[in-house]
Amino acid sequence: MSVLEIIRKKRDGLKIEKKEIEQLIRGYLAEEVPDYQMAAFLMAAFIRGLDDTETEALTEIMVQSGEVLDLREMADPKVDKHSTGGVGDKVSIVLAPLVAAAGVVVPMIAGRGLGHTGGTIDKLESIPGFNTQLNVLDFRNILWDTGVVIASQSEKIAPADRKLYALRNATSTVESIPLIASSIMSKKIAEGINGLVLDIKVGSGAFIKTEEEAERLARIMIKLGEASGIKTIAVLTDMNEPLGKTVGNAIEIRECINVLKGKAEQDLLDVILTLGAWMLVIGEELLEETEDVGVFNIKEKEITEELINEKRIKLEGLINSGDALEKFIQMVEAQGGNPEIVANPGLLPVAENIRPVEIEKDGFIQRVDAELIGKAAMLLGAGRTRIDDNIDHAAGITLNKKSGSEVHKGDVVAVLHYNDTNSSEEAYRLVKEAFQVTSEPPSERQIVRKVLL
Ligand code: URA
Repeated sequence: MSVLEIIRKKRDGLKIEKKEIEQLIRGYLAEEVPDYQMAAFLMAAFIRGLDDTETEALTEIMVQSGEVLDLREMADPKVDKHSTGGVGDKVSIVLAPLVAAAGVVVPMIAGRGLGHTGGTIDKLESIPGFNTQLNVLDFRNILWDTGVVIASQSEKIAPADRKLYALRNATSTVESIPLIASSIMSKKIAEGINGLVLDIKVGSGAFIKTEEEAERLARIMIKLGEASGIKTIAVLTDMNEPLGKTVGNAIEIRECINVLKGKAEQDLLDVILTLGAWMLVIGEELLEETEDVGVFNIKEKEITEELINEKRIKLEGLINSGDALEKFIQMVEAQGGNPEIVANPGLLPVAENIRPVEIEKDGFIQRVDAELIGKAAMLLGAGRTRIDDNIDHAAGITLNKKSGSEVHKGDVVAVLHYNDTNSSEEAYRLVKEAFQVTSEPPSERQIVRKVLL
């Protein structure tokens, strides 16, 4: 069948066969299918959807587009976490070394910024020298030496996702359950992990706006993970407001360093500790299986709040002892980055211009809209609108106040950081609009909404 016919079939809402998906993806990687045809297919899939069988086939073909790492020589459990994308979502950068400090191996393939959300890879690349483009051998060696590595998709690992991810970002085809599920799971299956915690973001700043849809996405990803022998759980977390107090790249790295030094915003810490606790629970389950001391099954075992709290306390201990920070430094060094940024964050890129945003009335901050803040950060240069855009690592926004804070007219609630002045006025307007002030304090924000096993 010709590529045109495959696109037409999906455009008309018909089901496509696995061999047709394969023809498209292989052709795209071989540069026989051009960007414009793949973009047309993505838009057709976005609008018409892919059913579970098509999503499974797409994921399998995307996995097979590269290598699946075989990490069986490492006896420790290999557990990763992946988020569906949020604003100020710097969780992976703290969580990966933190969980590695607890003895779980974390081989993480992460992504760049997508739409108005930031990407772990872009953030890490703001560290001078930090190399995210690792070949398989280096990926494996760093993992072996430090127990943690964070790299981008490559020619060898998840190459189909590498190309499709960038194309989706430039064609408004990101917010699709089957496309998100296949993108994330193809990377995760290729990593050679045996456990996975998914952070399904829900709310204005996420690609998925309702809990119902978030659960649908979680269920298909859990199914894809389990079918590949990966113990997978999903945690639904709130993304109506940015996580932590920074949105951008270098400024988020600064915040991560502070978190690892024990200075964290409560919402960010809550997500880190909850996801980390689940990574440890999965890691323990995998250990018990390999040691053959009676398999316990997460689905059958009652996971008590007490157990999760115990793991959270353990992780907090690793932050307070400096072990997690030490692991972060090891990771930065192993990936060619300058570890001096930890003692001297001034070595990270800094923007030439700053502009404070003042609040216009007295009251309580009801909400800081994550989507508006994400869009403003993009306008300042922290994200891309075209495949070949360069991002400005120094650009971003710091949030001095978050929901629940009492404010008075004239208080500085946020600060813009930028080099490019072209869109700063529009970004300023969006940030102002993002702060919603009312006379009554808001009800308490529930950050961790639900856990799906
Ligand atoms: N993260 C990914 O890796 N892919 C998506 O499509 C969305 C978030």
